[in-house]
Amino acid sequence: MFSPEASNSAKEVTKSFYYIFGIELVLLTLVTSAMIFFVIRYRSRKNPQPENIEGSLALEIIWTVLPTLLVIIMFIIGWRTFDKIRDVPQGAMVVRVTARQWSWQFTYEKGTQSDMLRVPVGRPVKLVLHSEDVLHCLYVPAFRIKEDCVPGMETYLWFTGETLGSYDIFCTEYCGLGHSGMLSKVIVMPASDFEQWYEKAQAGTGIKGLNLLETKGCTGCHTTDGSKKIGPTFKGLYGSQVEVFTNGKKREIIADEEYLRRSITDPGADIVASYPNIMPKLPLTDEEIKEIIAYLRELK
Ligand code: CUA
Repeated sequence: MFSPEASNSAKEVTKSFYYIFGIELVLLTLVTSAMIFFVIRYRSRKNPQPENIEGSLALEIIWTVLPTLLVIIMFIIGWRTFDKIRDVPQGAMVVRVTARQWSWQFTYEKGTQSDMLRVPVGRPVKLVLHSEDVLHCLYVPAFRIKEDCVPGMETYLWFTGETLGSYDIFCTEYCGLGHSGMLSKVIVMPASDFEQWYEKAQAGTGIKGLNLLETKGCTGCHTTDGSKKIGPTFKGLYGSQVEVFTNGKKREIIADEEYLRRSITDPGADIVASYPNIMPKLPLTDEEIKEIIAYLRELK
């Protein structure tokens, strides 16, 4: 029925859910049974003369107090869980999450970036969320955590990954054409594996072409295997002939270095025919653009 419970908060949320769902189920059964019973018992064929029924103080007190208590209990259970989910423990590992159309980017304390969220098992992680364009929402079903990413402000989430494995990250706020493809993974790793990965990533293996395309979010819309996504594929792009609209006028152009550079720094300048003009301007350094173009040149 549910995805696995892979974090500290998952069990809490499931417990609250079952508790509240249980109360609702009992109430639904009681109300529906009473309704069916009365419909049959007091049907007009058997009771042609309506009867005037006076109020009952005792009954009225019961049906006011009882539901009030039930609702208060639901509130307390919900509040307790909510409080645990919002209260970040000291010493949590902080990861900044950048949401943009249409990718997730995770930035670790020392600047290491990744398009997937890797975390060590058993260690609290605080995610600081922000958006570069529109509303997005980070959701990890297996952790039962979810929070909006809002442009112009920071929001947060925290969790402790308790079960090794790889879990889906979804965007659950409709954010445009690529919304359904705005996916990533949380990978809960043994602490030693995480340290190894972190050191290696920090050492700078992450600044080369393909890695840049992934961490900067390009592969959210462009593939490197020739298949079509929201934007044209990168495969075989370099040196090919491209049909573009420039200032609304159609023209043919060779995808050389100048064209690729312009497409990155000024995405709206030449719109590839049959694709929408939706690419955002990414904050890339000159060095990074060079690396990307060098990679594209090799991608036949
Ligand atoms: Cu981002 Cu939907």
